[in-house]
Amino acid sequence: MRIILMGPPGAGKGTQAEKLVQKFNIPHISTGDMFRKAIKDSTELGLKAKSFMDQGKLVPDEVTIGIVKERLQESDCVKGFLLDGFPRTVAQADALSEILNDLNISLNAVLDIQVPKEILVDRLTGRRICKSCGATYHTLFNPSINEKECTKCSGELYQRADDSSETVNKRLDVYAEQTTPLIKYYQELGLLSSIEGNQPMDKVLSDICLVLGVN
Ligand code: AP5
Ligand code: ZN
Repeated sequence: MRIILMGPPGAGKGTQAEKLVQKFNIPHISTGDMFRKAIKDSTELGLKAKSFMDQGKLVPDEVTIGIVKERLQESDCVKGFLLDGFPRTVAQADALSEILNDLNISLNAVLDIQVPKEILVDRLTGRRICKSCGATYHTLFNPSINEKECTKCSGELYQRADDSSETVNKRLDVYAEQTTPLIKYYQELGLLSSIEGNQPMDKVLSDICLVLGVN
């Protein structure tokens, strides 16, 4: 299965991706996670990405396309993959199509998770993440048992630097300007399905599975 998960910041891409990659036993390729890891490891890529991410802007296309191209050439992607947060610009989508052509493979589906803006702001500003295992929580919608600790591993919970309300609004504007043209792009290719994201997490998952023709 080769899937793209689209949707604005906070739509629930990461939440659904976690479940889908387990179900299909495919790698989860999240450009945001790759950049955050590079920042944590203080690599050259991390240094390049950090200032853009902190401002809620997109990391330049040439940098982003380069890391995805490398990742898709790794052997575990032969069995399929889930792209989360890539592509985000028409240039990235064109580059992806070239990469897939070169590999002689094609996409099964592009899923666009839709959620109203006011809800996205609430979701992002209330999101908390475990420092140890990366599990995602929400202070109201998906709280951990103890406010400061991960339910799964007791790791410390933190808030992402770009989840402040100011940066969240910038990220939503950037999505509207630079990423929404991809909805039409993939519609025209007959690959796009819209998913109602403003529902309980399990219902979003079952709707996705319905579209993918699996249960
Ligand atoms: P990235 O990490 O991709 O972030 P994003 O797209 O902004 O998406 P998020 O991770 O914020 O949200 P999500 O949709 O995964 O939601 P989640 O499941 O966590 O990108 C970060 C930055 O990296 C970008 O701003 C950019 O700078 C850079 N970058 C990344 N990719 C790039 C690219 N291709 N090109 C250039 N730059 C790039 O859910 C959010 C919250 O809601 C959680 O608390 C969760 O518990 C809760 N929640 C989820 N589902 C539900 C539900 N159904 N009901 C109630 N609550 C829910
Ligand atoms: Zn944890």
